[in-house]
Amino acid sequence: MKGIAGKNAIITGSSRGIGLAVAERLAAEGANIVLNSNVMEVDTPLIVELSEKYGVKVQAIQADVTSYEAVEKMINKVKEDWGSVDILVNNAGITKDNLILRMSPEDFDIIVDIHLKGVFNGVKAVYPLMMKQRSGKIINMASVIGIMGNAGQANYAAAKAGIIALTKSAAKELAGRGVNVNAIAPGFIQTAMTDAIPENEKAKILASIPMKRMAQTSEVASVIAFLASDEASYINGQTIVIDGGML
Ligand SMILES: NC(=O)c1ccc[n+]([C@@H]2O[C@H](COP(=O)([O-])OP(=O)(O)OC[C@H]3O[C@@H](n4cnc5c(N)ncnc54)[C@H](O)[C@@H]3O)[C@@H](O)[C@H]2O)c1
Repeated sequence: MKGIAGKNAIITGSSRGIGLAVAERLAAEGANIVLNSNVMEVDTPLIVELSEKYGVKVQAIQADVTSYEAVEKMINKVKEDWGSVDILVNNAGITKDNLILRMSPEDFDIIVDIHLKGVFNGVKAVYPLMMKQRSGKIINMASVIGIMGNAGQANYAAAKAGIIALTKSAAKELAGRGVNVNAIAPGFIQTAMTDAIPENEKAKILASIPMKRMAQTSEVASVIAFLASDEASYINGQTIVIDGGML
C-alpha cells in the first residue's frame, strides 16, 4: 500500500495476537517496526526473523501502556534511534470479564487504565512529534463491544466506547496538522483472548455472526495497514467495524 515503506511504526501489545499480525503486515509493507509489551515476551529470534524476512529495522521495547512515563520514553527512543514516529497503533489490551454485580472496582479500573488511559498515553506522547512533523497516522483499537455493549464486559465496553470518543476528539485536534486518527472496532478475532472463551459461549457467538466464523488476525491487520497508508488520507476520526456483519 502507498506510503508505508520506510515509515517507522510502533504497535503496542504486539508480542502476539492482533498486534503481532499488524506488526508483520506493516513490515511486509516496508515499515520499520517496534514490537511492544508490558512483559517482554518478544524473543530475539522473532526480531531477527522479521527483519531478515522483510528487510526492515525491528526493535522490541518493554513498556506498560498504563504508565505515561514508560510510553513517552518508548516513543522518544524511537524518535532518537530512527528519526521519526510515523505510525502508532494503540492495540495493547486484556479482559477481566464479570457481571457488574461481581465485578470488583479494581477490575473496572485496570481495564480502563490499560485500554482507555493506554490510548490516551500513546496519543499524548506522540502528539508533539507528529504535530511538528505535520504528518502521522494513529490507529486506536476499539471493539464492537464498545458500540453494542455486552453482558459481563461493562468495564471493557466502557473503555472501548471511550476510545471511540477519544479518537474523534484527537482527530479534531490533529487533522489540521496532517495527522489522521482513526479507530477500528473488530468483532470476534481468533486469538489467545478469544481462545479463553468457554466452548458453549463460543457456539452462541458464532451463531450471532452472519459469516459464521471468527476473523483471522490478518483480516484486522489489512484494515490497519490501509488506515496507515496514504490510500486512507481523507479518513479521519472514524471507527471502522470489522465484524463479519454482526453489528
Ligand atoms: N481478540 C478479539 O476478538 C478482539 C476483538 C476486538 C478487539 N480486540 C482488541 O485487540 C487488542 C489485542 O487483542 P488480542 O486478542 O490480540 O489479545 P492478546 O491477548 O493476544 O494480546 C494482547 C497484547 O497486549 C499486551 N499487553 C497487555 N497488557 C499490556 C500493557 N499494560 N502494556 C503493554 N502491553 C500489554 C500483551 O503482552 C499482548 O502482546 C486488544 O485491545 C483487544 O481488546 C480483540
